Amino acid sequence: TWTSENVVEDLVASIREQVGDAHVICGLSGGVDSSVAAALVNRAVGDQLTCVFVDHGLLREGEAQQVEEDFVAATGVDLVVVDARERFLDALAGVTDPETKRKVIGREFIRVFEQAARDVAGSADAEGHPVEFLVQGTLYPDVVESGGGSGTANIKSHHNVGGLPDDLQFTLIEPLRTLFKDEVRQVGLELEVPEAIVWRQPFPGPGLGIRIIGAVDAERLAILRRADAIAREELTKAGLDRDVWQCPVVLLADVRSVGVQGDGRTYGHPIVLRPVSSEDAMTADWSRLPYEVLAKVSSRITNEVEEVNRVVLDVTSKPPGTIEWE
Ligand code: XMP
Repeated sequence: TWTSENVVEDLVASIREQVGDAHVICGLSGGVDSSVAAALVNRAVGDQLTCVFVDHGLLREGEAQQVEEDFVAATGVDLVVVDARERFLDALAGVTDPETKRKVIGREFIRVFEQAARDVAGSADAEGHPVEFLVQGTLYPDVVESGGGSGTANIKSHHNVGGLPDDLQFTLIEPLRTLFKDEVRQVGLELEVPEAIVWRQPFPGPGLGIRIIGAVDAERLAILRRADAIAREELTKAGLDRDVWQCPVVLLADVRSVGVQGDGRTYGHPIVLRPVSSEDAMTADWSRLPYEVLAKVSSRITNEVEEVNRVVLDVTSKPPGTIEWE
């Protein structure tokens, strides 16, 4: 019978067997899959594991702390944090084309991660343990999708830790490759991964970088981060987290519209709410959120985020719209 306890026991045993006394590196993104994969490997060979978290500055409010503090406190993993926020902002300066943004973010991510992996490999070598393994949070559906040879079109280039250079040679460990998402969550709970991570909705690798329509800069990120935090807080308060697949919050940074507040005219930016329901993100429908919740989110964002004077709702299904705006 499938119990998360049995699954953890089996996976831990096979990780131990595969790894022996080698050293293991795992990139953490803040998402469910990499966190649960890391927690599993940590349970199996804790002192041989180094996790690397690249802070690209494109996460939402509180998410870097969730990784740096809560996840570490809950699991005791050895974590290296690379603060690459400046570097990503510099690389993204003036970039507006969505695919170029994705490529820039993916490229910088690999460079930073590669350097961190080399550093870990260098210091781990000094202790006499060769770094041989890289953990990936690949799930069963990913395995099927990439092995299926069905020739799916590349609509958007997806950003992952894949694509590391050939001279960095690691054997991949993919402890989740037999599991579905809901099983991964059960395993995460069993391993005491913080609930905020276990139940996190999908969030794209390029993060808020592809939710600012227009060029990305620190000020725009700060605006979007505040609006997003309000939307998430209200959806959670209304108990809608499990009904909504995800709710991108998008800043139309190059658009301005006229508004009025107090006795003054404003000329601010719109925020788009994109709540969707979905089974697998391949298709989606816009979520019929209760009007009271939408009203609350709208009034809070326009009151609390000075630069925003309008909140609009995206009522497009996928297709023809994608879930993200870029
Ligand atoms: P779209 O916008 O293509 O998104 O309808 C489908 C799902 O994928 C997520 N997404 C990404 N996830 N790296 C990721 O890890 C990415 O580059 C990426 N782009 C989109 C999106 O949030 C949605 O769940």
